[in-house]
Amino acid sequence: MSTALQFLTAFAQTLSALTLYPEGHTTRERALDTAFQKLRDLLAEDPNPIYSFLGDEIVYGHVPLRELRGWEWAPRLSNIGIQRLQFDATATREELEAFLEDVLARLTLRAIDTSEARQMRPSGIRYGAVGIKGDEDNAGQEIATATIAFTLGDEAHTVRWMHDELRAKGVLPLSEAEAVVRGLSVAMHGDQQVMLPLLKLRRFDEYTTTHSMNVCVLAMGLAEWLGMSPDDVRSFGVAGLLHDLGKVRVSKEILTKPGKLTPEERAEMNTHPAEGARLILAAEEDLDLAAVVAYEHHIMLNGAGYPRLAFPRDCHRASKLVHVCDVYDALRTNRPYRDAWPMEKVLAYTEERSGTEFDGAMAHAFTRMMREWEPRVAVVTEEETIPATA
Ligand SMILES: [Fe+2]
Ligand SMILES: [Fe+2]
Repeated sequence: MSTALQFLTAFAQTLSALTLYPEGHTTRERALDTAFQKLRDLLAEDPNPIYSFLGDEIVYGHVPLRELRGWEWAPRLSNIGIQRLQFDATATREELEAFLEDVLARLTLRAIDTSEARQMRPSGIRYGAVGIKGDEDNAGQEIATATIAFTLGDEAHTVRWMHDELRAKGVLPLSEAEAVVRGLSVAMHGDQQVMLPLLKLRRFDEYTTTHSMNVCVLAMGLAEWLGMSPDDVRSFGVAGLLHDLGKVRVSKEILTKPGKLTPEERAEMNTHPAEGARLILAAEEDLDLAAVVAYEHHIMLNGAGYPRLAFPRDCHRASKLVHVCDVYDALRTNRPYRDAWPMEKVLAYTEERSGTEFDGAMAHAFTRMMREWEPRVAVVTEEETIPATA
C-alpha cells in the first residue's frame, strides 16, 4: 500500500480512537503516534502532499486513489467543509492532534464555521473547502453531496455491554458511556442537517438499551433545538443515556412482565431512579447532572410520580427535558402490554399533560421540534443504515 493510503488509514483509525478514549489514554496516544509516523513517512516521499475529498472520491495530488473508493471518511470530510487537506514538512504532532480534534468538532457541532478565521494559528496543516482560498483551478467546482452510511450497531453493542458490566461488577464504565454519546452525536450530524436516528426495538428484553439510546438522541436534539452550548448538549446526552441505569437493579421478570405489576413489583420498579443516581455518583462525582436526572425523571411537575419528595420543589431543567423525551420514546415503542402509539397521539398527549405532568415550556419545545424535524427522524434497526434526508 502506498504511503498516501497508509496515512489515510492511520488517520481514520486515530479519529476512532479519539472518539473512544479521553486525552492521555494510551490507546489514543499510540494511535496519534502511528498517524504522525505515517505522516512523516509520507512527507519524506512528498514534501507537499495534498488530498482532495470530493464526495466519495479521493484525489491525491492529481491522481484519484481508486483503492479507497467508498471509503466512508471521504464524504464525511467533504460534508464538513474539508475538501482539501494539505501538509507542509513542518507539520507537528500537536498540529495533527489539533486538526483531528477539529474534524471531530465539525462532525458533532451543528453550527459549522468553515471560514478561514476558524483555522487559528499558522499551521503545517491546511484544510478547508475547495475553491475558497482563491484556488483558480478548482473555483466553482461542484462538490458532490454524498450519503453517509452510519449504523447504530456499535453504540447498541456498547450500551448492552455497559449494562452487563454494571450488573456483574457494580461499576459503570464511564468512558464507554461518553463514547456512545459522542458516537450518537456524530450520527446525528453526519448529514448537513441535524438528524434524529432512533432505534427500533427488536426484542422486549432489549428495551432498556434501545430506550436509553433513543432518550439520549432526543435529549441532545431538544437541547440543541433550545440553543444550548455543545458542552451542555453533550451533558444532557449523557444524562439521557444514563437516566434508567438503576433498572440494572430491577429483576428482568419485572422489566419484561406483560401484565400489570403487583404492588411489590411496582415498589421494586420504583427504586430505579434512586438506584440509578447512586450508581452514577459511585462511578463519578462530577456526573451530578446525570445523577440528578436519574433521580428526578419520573417526578411530575405537580409533584406526582416517584420518588416522592418530602418537600416538594422544582426539578432541574435537565430532568424536565429528559422526562418529556422519556415518555415520548416509551409511548412510541411496542411494550408487552400495549402497542406503540402513533407520533401524533403521543404529541397530543404531551400537550394535554403540559402544566401538570410536564413543564409547559419543555413540552411545547419538544412538540414543536418533533413536528418540524419529523422528516429527519430515522427509525432504524441496529444493522440498518441511517438514511440521509433531502
Ligand atoms: Fe425511568
Ligand atoms: Fe426511561
